[in-house]
Amino acid sequence: MTDDQGTDVAPWTAKQYKDVAAVYDTLMAGVPHGQWLSRIEAEARGERGKAPKSALDIACGTGLVSELLHRRGYAPVCGIDLSEAMVLIARTKAQAKGYPIRYTQQDAAALDLPGQTFDFVVSMFDSLNYITDSAALQTAFQRIFVHTAPGGVFAFDLNAMYALAHGFFDQTGTLGPIHHVWKSYWDRETRLCRVEMDFWVRDSETGEMRHFTETHIQRAYTVPEITEWLGAAGFVRIDVFGNYGRRPPGPKSDRLLFVAEKE
Ligand SMILES: C[S@@+](CC[C@H](N)C(=O)[O-])C[C@H]1O[C@@H](n2cnc3c(N)ncnc32)[C@H](O)[C@@H]1O
Repeated sequence: MTDDQGTDVAPWTAKQYKDVAAVYDTLMAGVPHGQWLSRIEAEARGERGKAPKSALDIACGTGLVSELLHRRGYAPVCGIDLSEAMVLIARTKAQAKGYPIRYTQQDAAALDLPGQTFDFVVSMFDSLNYITDSAALQTAFQRIFVHTAPGGVFAFDLNAMYALAHGFFDQTGTLGPIHHVWKSYWDRETRLCRVEMDFWVRDSETGEMRHFTETHIQRAYTVPEITEWLGAAGFVRIDVFGNYGRRPPGPKSDRLLFVAEKE
């Protein structure tokens, strides 16, 4: 299969969240994780009258959201992520801060935390778009359902097809010592978006620039697909909003927020 540029877009060619782990938190400086989490909490606590205590962060990355959950009083807090490098950084940060967050390297599609269920399960910043196989995403929803406590809430966001098809990943910028150039390639047929990422990081002592590349691949899913698969996994009261707002997504929403619960 090829993208609009005629290049092969096989997902297994991706190199994701390895070198980028070390610069991830710097890159995320402008991402409003705290506001997004507040929006999800308003939905869970305000609209649905829940009082979640325990929390699970799916595809937690370096633990930015897990740490917010801990600081907001959730306990226990667990995070899982596929990337060894991201989990290592998350663990190192939690140890340094004395946060009792438990991080495990796992694929969300094979989520297995024996005997544990959580009141509040979140997955933020389009992490689930990285599951490019639709059967695997459906399995992830089933595994998340198993680990959601009765009455618990599952909330996550996805990049909408509009964003992936319209070059939202085409970015060039400098953040502190990091310069990045990203170019995305969209394949209509597979709904895969391949992002070729170049990074240059300035060494603080020598001033030299280190260059590395990563290839990230995300898949676009539709609202009916996700809604059907959440329902098939057992979730009820499934709502979807555009861009972390309070309204349903429109045709030009670039981010979709799903909120569902387990009876
Ligand atoms: C954009 S980062 C978001 C990290 C974190 N949720 C945040 O908001 O900062 C996407 C994360 O998804 C993780 N990821 C990708 N595929 C995954 C999978 N199948 N299971 C678990 N984590 C996965 C990556 O390793 C990466 O850490």
